[in-house]
Amino acid sequence: MTENSNDIEQAEDRVPRRVIGTPPPRGEASALGAPASTDEPIVYEGATFPDPAKARKAERIVALLFLVSFVGAVAFIASYVAFQVGTIGRTQVSNFALGSSLTVALLALAAGIVVWVRQIMPKYNLVQQRHPMVSDPEVRESVAETFLQGANESGFVKHKLLRRTLLLAAAPLGLLPLVLLKDLGPLPETTLRHTVWKKGRRLMVEGTKQPIRAADFNSPGGILSVVPEGYEEDLNALAKATLILIKFRPEDLKPGTKLNWTHDSIVAYSKICTHVGCPAALYEQTTHHILCPCHQSTFDAADGAKVIFGPAARPLPQLPIGVDGEGYLIAQSDFNVPVGPSFWERGDAEAEARGQA
Ligand code: FES
Repeated sequence: MTENSNDIEQAEDRVPRRVIGTPPPRGEASALGAPASTDEPIVYEGATFPDPAKARKAERIVALLFLVSFVGAVAFIASYVAFQVGTIGRTQVSNFALGSSLTVALLALAAGIVVWVRQIMPKYNLVQQRHPMVSDPEVRESVAETFLQGANESGFVKHKLLRRTLLLAAAPLGLLPLVLLKDLGPLPETTLRHTVWKKGRRLMVEGTKQPIRAADFNSPGGILSVVPEGYEEDLNALAKATLILIKFRPEDLKPGTKLNWTHDSIVAYSKICTHVGCPAALYEQTTHHILCPCHQSTFDAADGAKVIFGPAARPLPQLPIGVDGEGYLIAQSDFNVPVGPSFWERGDAEAEARGQA
């Protein structure tokens, strides 16, 4: 054995003496499994086999561990279904059940494989010299051959019980990532394109939660932050449905504003900036500019909330409003375009393009 050798060299007494890369002796299999004509185990030179009685005992232990792994994986799936989250306490219980069952499944599987390798498979003393990073073809061939040898000696084909329990244990583990995909939640479908505004729903002052009588909101330049009746505390709904309500002089309104969606020169716009969704609520009365404080997008409230500065790509959507029989401001319908970031505008354009294709 020389120090600079590139070959894998093996301890003299216990190593296979066959030259790497040469075909196996007659009667040996060259691939996974025993020789076609016999059930005799393939014995490689230099192998030290465990005591048969100990190997049989180890086989039962390995099978038991694989069964435990199977139970753990099934318990993981059952825990996911049984323990729903929603509160901190329920989430803790769910996390504990998921974590402990997955730990049992993976630990038992790993322990079974370790016992299989250490107690059932034969052993060799091998010495490997340092060599260049790139292996030469002969070494690569030997690695492939050693892999097949290991596969043969593992008894994967011969030990039906081990093979079947291993496959049984591995099957649900492969499904676990699919189960976790459910945590991504249901698809939003069209929910992000709509708000809770609908015909007849009253506009309520944010904070006081009082309805707004049109006759009382009569000083031009006035502005109110408004929420939908019945959803004053619903943060999910408010994230999309909050409005700003502005009173104009009739002569100040420009063509961009839909006049039949106003009432007595009162205009309602979405408060959600069309850039990335900050609340756009800074209002300059003399210029009629609505300013979003996040990235300084500026909208002309007198002209349909058109963008006059900044990164926003489209106007703040206008909500059609009117009054009910008691004179309180109400919505005439939902917005006719999605509120919030302009992603939805692009989505609409793509959907339109697909429809025309
Ligand atoms: S979120 Fe309003 S300008 Fe960026």
